[in-house]
Amino acid sequence: MILAFESSCDDTCVAIVKNGRVLANAIGSQILVHRKTQGVVPEVAAREHAKNIKTVLETCLKDAKLKLSDITAIACANQPGMTGCLLVGSTFASALAALLNLPIYEVNHKLGHVYSCFLERERQEIKFPFIALSVSGGHNELYLVEAVGKHTMLGSTLDDAAGEAYDKVAKMLGLNYPGGPEISRVALEGNPKAFSFPCPLPHQKFNFSFSGLKTNVKYKIQELSKPLNPPQVSDIAASFQHCINTNLVKKTLKAVQAHQAQQVHLVGGVSANLDLRKKMQLACTPIEVLTPQEFSFCTDNAAMIGVVAELLAPKHQLSAGDMVQV
Ligand code: KG4
Ligand code: ZN
Repeated sequence: MILAFESSCDDTCVAIVKNGRVLANAIGSQILVHRKTQGVVPEVAAREHAKNIKTVLETCLKDAKLKLSDITAIACANQPGMTGCLLVGSTFASALAALLNLPIYEVNHKLGHVYSCFLERERQEIKFPFIALSVSGGHNELYLVEAVGKHTMLGSTLDDAAGEAYDKVAKMLGLNYPGGPEISRVALEGNPKAFSFPCPLPHQKFNFSFSGLKTNVKYKIQELSKPLNPPQVSDIAASFQHCINTNLVKKTLKAVQAHQAQQVHLVGGVSANLDLRKKMQLACTPIEVLTPQEFSFCTDNAAMIGVVAELLAPKHQLSAGDMVQV
């Protein structure tokens, strides 16, 4: 029974996981606070975590109908992310582990996303080797996973992550934060062929780069008459979404072919994007594409931190009071 914490960015998350099942997944969202600045100010986010973490823990225990005395291990995200934010979660988790005399697993946030398709799934559903495309606001990577604990990063972004590009383009178009869901909403009304943006970093197999695409969108917006009318906003959003998603799919497919992957796991906040899911499945057929079982397991959550601790626990055999980084 693992109590997990995740506080690397703008969501205060606490979850309880047992045998891959999510008994509770509480999320204290800070979106309304960060909307005022159209993005996350790290110190503001850290203070919000400190203010909310105890309440989110109480909600989590109440949702699971459990008490702290039922918990057998603690897990928390320890990197990467905003330092002040991570420290709130990991200090709170360590204090709790010391108080309850429980082992604590400090988990790399990125691995949480990589293994997030294990949540609420039978283990036989996962086929190795699989390629994980992890796309979010802070990171954008391709992994080869040959077995639990045997994961290799094949490539990553050289500049912006896909989610970051979605957020920045949304800001240019006058849309709300976070930009990904907003772009996909307005893109439904737009024509993905209205504007043709050049394919980013076509010659590198597994690395990504989205800052050039972002600049191309900026120039296109400057070229059009101001203020943009709603059909123009929709057309730019649809064309940008088409370009970035096509690029993500192309590189994933290359990795699948290079490593004879049996499955693709599309994970991270941007994996909530329906156009990306559709394009990925179409390109990878007959290889199966898995996405996290719930949309709340795509964006940052603590359940994915708990499942990594659980999956890697047999390797470490921790006793009460022990700590390990995984
Ligand atoms: O995984 P996540 O919650 O946080 C990080 O680890 O960064 O991902 C958040 C990112 C944001 O950039 C957000 O705009 C993007 O995921 N996102 C989406 C969608 N929903 C969230 N991007 C595209 N389409 C969506 N539907
Ligand atoms: Zn994340």
